[in-house]
Amino acid sequence: MTKVSPSMLSADFSRLGEELVRVEKAGADWAHLDVMDGMFVPNITFGAPVIKAMRKYSDIPFDAHLMIQDPARYIDDFAAAGCDSITVHCEATGDIHNAMARIERRGLKVGISLNPETPMDDILPFLEDADIALVMTVHPGFGGQSFIEDCVPKISAIREWANRNNPSLEISVDGGINTTTGKTCVSAGASVLVAGSSLFRLDDMGPTISEWKAFGPNRG
Ligand code: DX5
Ligand code: ZN
Repeated sequence: MTKVSPSMLSADFSRLGEELVRVEKAGADWAHLDVMDGMFVPNITFGAPVIKAMRKYSDIPFDAHLMIQDPARYIDDFAAAGCDSITVHCEATGDIHNAMARIERRGLKVGISLNPETPMDDILPFLEDADIALVMTVHPGFGGQSFIEDCVPKISAIREWANRNNPSLEISVDGGINTTTGKTCVSAGASVLVAGSSLFRLDDMGPTISEWKAFGPNRG
């Protein structure tokens, strides 16, 4: 089955605990947590203390997406806050191999992400050690943007690479995901759909999550 990871960036930030319960009840596999530092991306969201406060409301796996510079500095904080997987960007400053090693040492799933304009070659040095490849299908920083279709061949290329070299790699897609673009991504080889605005605008996201889960698997 395709995994679905609703992005809490589109949740009501004044009621994050209740929103998390809503996501879990709707059948989500993971909850996606977008951490932005105002440097790597031109927006600031929340950090480890907010994630720690959310952790009390649900046992759903926390899928943290760090859009921050020099992420190695903060891995221990996010691990201690209760994240289950932590994804860092290959374009971020600092030692990304070190950040990934720290995530692994904490016993968490290790994710590596790349922006729409970043070629697949730039994440190849990291993919061998990753559990998750997060393919950005919008420019990171804001929810509610349109899916960038040009990213689809990169999903297929990473799927082909994974089938040969790291078959258990989860390929996650993030940005502009709705029923149509989600289906396209799963056909190209994605195994996890991250979505904010298209899910949170629904009164009940349960039926849509069930529909998306039935898209997969397609591991080539
Ligand atoms: C964007 C974030 C996404 C965002 C997706 O920088 O990484 O996770 O929440 O939002 P939608 O689904 O609205 O494009
Ligand atoms: Zn994200």
